[in-house]
Amino acid sequence: MPASQSAKDFFRPLAVGAPTPLTEIPFRPSRAIHFFDPSNAKMAAKIPAMVGTVDVLLGNLEDAVKADNKLAAREGLITIGRETDFGPTQLWTRINSLDSPWALDDLTALVEGIGDKLDVIMVPKVQGAEDIHYVDRLLAQLEAKAGLDRPILVHAILETARGMANVEEICGASPRMQGLSLGPADLAADRRMKTTRVGGGHPGYLVRQDPATGDEAGINAARTTYQQDLWHYTIARMVDACAMHGIYPYYGPFGDIADVVACEDQFRNAFLLGCVGTWSLHPKQIAIAHKVFSPSVEDIAHARRVVAAMGDGTGAVMLDGKMEDDASLKQCLVVVRLAEQLAA
Ligand code: GLV
Ligand code: MG
Repeated sequence: MPASQSAKDFFRPLAVGAPTPLTEIPFRPSRAIHFFDPSNAKMAAKIPAMVGTVDVLLGNLEDAVKADNKLAAREGLITIGRETDFGPTQLWTRINSLDSPWALDDLTALVEGIGDKLDVIMVPKVQGAEDIHYVDRLLAQLEAKAGLDRPILVHAILETARGMANVEEICGASPRMQGLSLGPADLAADRRMKTTRVGGGHPGYLVRQDPATGDEAGINAARTTYQQDLWHYTIARMVDACAMHGIYPYYGPFGDIADVVACEDQFRNAFLLGCVGTWSLHPKQIAIAHKVFSPSVEDIAHARRVVAAMGDGTGAVMLDGKMEDDASLKQCLVVVRLAEQLAA
């Protein structure tokens, strides 16, 4: 940073100090990406009433939609897309994976049918930049054919070991890249992890407190254990890759719908690590996501106090016995900026 430039001038959301990103995708609230199955008539009928109650509605065509219903799901989404005014709510879809028999037809039919309404296409099981290049080229052709005047953005699900290894190149593969989500179920299977849960923690993934010094017998005695976050490494890696490229990281599915407490904990871990949102698999997860992925009133007030105390943004000040400087100012600006973007 040039000596004359303060942290306030320098700040850019999600990319503080990063190399120039390929693209700066405009911020739109996407704290909860609510999945629905457009082939399920009962579920589909509820969608118009959900507009305005959730940041993103996502018509899912991939896993959880039966093979026999793939066509009905695609056509159902086109009908909903055509008939619904989405107002401030974004419309996303998750297409079938690129190695399935449906992906090409999904893209062709959706861009032609509702390309003007679709904000983001989520691509599952992305393995490397080549998958994004393929979707990017197809979208360019289909958008030109449909006469669309804005590009549809692309979101990749990180759910294979190979995709994980290629996470940086995936983020930078196209200016259409909007973000990445963690796909913990497929990723666990691909990595041969031994959890059978869809996201969240595991009671067996523990660290045990040391025995008291000199207490050899105590080694086998009951000692406190702490459950660890199975997804910490993956989320942190995903967040770094997204920040480097100026795109947005998301948690993913939390399958235990009844366990709202553990769901909130998992979402909060992701928020604290840098994610901007998550998936919602049930209406009750929407409120949890909206709450967790919005900075709290207390955090905003504290961040604003630091910004005010830092004056021109250089040097250091003491607040409540704690040192604040250019770097902590940048941390506070992340919170203030997010609060402003969500309120806009
Ligand atoms: C989501 O698609 C997952 O596999 O967890
Ligand atoms: Mg998956």
